[in-house]
Amino acid sequence: MGNLEIDFAGVKFRNPLILASATTGWDGERSNHAWRAGAGGVIPKSFAPPSKWGQHPRTGRMKLINVNKTRIGMVNIELYTTITLEDWLDRELDKACEGHSSIIASVVAHPDPEDTAQKAKIIEDTGKVVMFEINVSCPMPAGDDKVGFQMGNDPETCYRQIQAVKRRVSLPVGIKLTPTTHNMVPIAQSCERAGADFLTIANSVRSFAGVDIVTGMPRLCAYGGYTGPAIKPITQRHVSEVAKAVDIPISAVGGVSNWEDVVEYMMIGATTIQICTSIMWHGYDHFGKILDGLSSYMVRENLDSLESIKGKALPHIVPIEELAKKAPLMVQVDGQRCINLKKGGCKLCGKSCFYGAIEFDPRLTLYQENCDGCGLCVEMCPTDALQLIPVS
Ligand SMILES: Cc1cc2nc3c(=O)[nH]c(=O)nc-3n(C[C@H](O)[C@H](O)[C@H](O)COP(=O)(O)O)c2cc1C
Ligand code: SF4
Ligand code: SF4
Repeated sequence: MGNLEIDFAGVKFRNPLILASATTGWDGERSNHAWRAGAGGVIPKSFAPPSKWGQHPRTGRMKLINVNKTRIGMVNIELYTTITLEDWLDRELDKACEGHSSIIASVVAHPDPEDTAQKAKIIEDTGKVVMFEINVSCPMPAGDDKVGFQMGNDPETCYRQIQAVKRRVSLPVGIKLTPTTHNMVPIAQSCERAGADFLTIANSVRSFAGVDIVTGMPRLCAYGGYTGPAIKPITQRHVSEVAKAVDIPISAVGGVSNWEDVVEYMMIGATTIQICTSIMWHGYDHFGKILDGLSSYMVRENLDSLESIKGKALPHIVPIEELAKKAPLMVQVDGQRCINLKKGGCKLCGKSCFYGAIEFDPRLTLYQENCDGCGLCVEMCPTDALQLIPVS
């Protein structure tokens, strides 16, 4: 088995998979369960909200988002932990870190950064956590305090939060940013300037869970956080943009379902990978499945460590203007693979070409001179019969 051990912001983890802060780390027992199931690190549910935010609705907080019958994501309206910090430290933390020392404390950013710092200091003094993740990204802000993702959209606020916590504690301090922003780069750079040791990218996407068309009622009557496979492209955009712009390590989180997603995130610059929704859907044992997949991948690719794949894809992400200057491609069909050319029937690619390059009369005919090199037909073909080749 390849060596999955990873150094993240100066802390060693036995592997790069981390339980993201959420319901799955609700208390000590559940946090420890993730460790026993194989997680390299564990982030319990965000600690220490001021008491007035320590309530969440109990009227149903989670809705699956399905397309036809396929589950693609989930919207939730869960706030922070409802366990007080005192109870967490007295009752839960010992259980959470039994048998290991890889607890990352997620601390809710308070409106006054000194309050955030003070809570972090109390937690550090237990000696039971290895680093901090400051949460400025909850997508359900509590009232007029401008907390959660509203804080996380302001580079100066993020700077002051990090600066205050760094002054009070000696463990590494990271910050969990919000994907609900048009450009994360200046926010990430501001955190780096303030002394952040790492960035977590990202929290859930502020969203709306849809409408029950029988009753006309919203499926959730408040805005919530979108998570799961559907958000991976959004989070990957932020991770890759920020990875090019900062030097501090990144913990990526958003839509990881399998080991391939983990490899993808590493190839766009992440060092550790956090998982939430797929653990909520498949249970803690899902960590073991992802780890098995990663180990087999390393053996197949002859990798001693995962460090060697980090950022591999980044140099190939270029401004779109540069791509438009490259030589165009056009479609080509492999007659041995095309169902229509072999026995008729399939016409899927024709329905997806809007440039007049694919016709059926009755068998597939390509008009390559009309092909605009968009590639949609290639994606739609069920038998990989189409590919894009250089225009001759
Ligand atoms: C029900 C639920 C509760 C969550 N609670 C928290 C939280 O307390 N603190 C936090 O930083 N993120 C919280 N998150 C966000 C997750 O940690 C994670 O950033 C997000 O779900 C995206 O990852 P995923 O696609 O793997 O789920 C929560 C997510 C869900 C689904
Ligand atoms: S989608 Fe693929 S198999 Fe179907 S007609 Fe087009 S090329 Fe042939
Ligand atoms: S690549 Fe685009 S334009 Fe060309 S044939 Fe396929 S769908 Fe049509």
